[in-house]
Amino acid sequence: MATATSVAATLLLSLLLARARGGDDYFGFVYAGCSQGRYDSGSPYASGVESVLTSVANSAPYSPYGNFTSPSPSSSSVVGLYQCRSDLPAAVCSGCVRSAISRLSSLCAWAAGGAVQLRTCFVRYGNDTFLGKQDTTVLFKKCGGSPGDASGAAMRDSALGALVAAAAPAGGGYRAGGSGGVQAMSQCVGDLDAKACSDCVSAASGQLKSGCGYATAGEVYLGKCYARFWANGGGFSSGAAGSNGYRFGPIVYGEHGGRLVVAVAGGFFTCMAYFTLVLM
Ligand SMILES: *[C@@H]1O[C@H](CO)[C@@H](O)[C@H](O)[C@H]1NC(C)=O
Ligand SMILES: *[C@@H]1O[C@H](CO)[C@@H](O)[C@H](O)[C@H]1NC(C)=O
Repeated sequence: MATATSVAATLLLSLLLARARGGDDYFGFVYAGCSQGRYDSGSPYASGVESVLTSVANSAPYSPYGNFTSPSPSSSSVVGLYQCRSDLPAAVCSGCVRSAISRLSSLCAWAAGGAVQLRTCFVRYGNDTFLGKQDTTVLFKKCGGSPGDASGAAMRDSALGALVAAAAPAGGGYRAGGSGGVQAMSQCVGDLDAKACSDCVSAASGQLKSGCGYATAGEVYLGKCYARFWANGGGFSSGAAGSNGYRFGPIVYGEHGGRLVVAVAGGFFTCMAYFTLVLM
């Protein structure tokens, strides 16, 4: 029975992944970062990290969000959380979180704190007090697509405005909006309440409006939420590459973009980027 369920889950995941390859890449890497502080193997902190990441992995098939605190003594207690895009099936969440944890283990080995954002999930752990706190620090931003125009930018602003105005669905944190030929979505980390989520999405959409000019697609990742917009073929000026209407190229724009692009090429530098951007 358990085997049949797991075969079915694997099959579903394979189908989703097959679809993902043709369109959005569910497990694609966005950014990662690690704290400079490190812990020793075999220490209580090490078992704390292992414990919270195990809880994260075990919880992902059942819920799009979770937070966990290690049972270790409070001086070395570790907090971990994850957030999946809450509109997607549990199989995607669980696969994404597994992939994120494996990225963390390789990119942030022995780092006291680490975070990784893949296309559809975010995982973070550490002993700094980030749980339940607003964080609108810009971690990663890019704009792209084909050059657009003022009417496209107006649709973008209105699609992003719809995200801010949307009531956060209970237990979700995912919001979608559209205007003319432009779609937008946002996702908050589940430790923010509805008001804090709106504030975070508002900050994210402000970044996209002010920082993406007439670009026909863009995305920005803040500490506790992210937002994306893209032209869906009509309305916005067309010519975007890829069958999906728009795909990000290798060129990344935006204030921290250059640094992180190099980072994506070499794992270790990625860690340093997070340190620079978040922990300083
Ligand atoms: C977090 O853990 C690291 C590694 O054990 C340690 O160096 C640091 O002092 C800890 N920070 C806090 C706030 O406890
Ligand atoms: C952390 O998880 C607990 C247990 O699921 C939950 O009751 C609590 O609301 C969560 N806290 C935050 C800040 O998300």
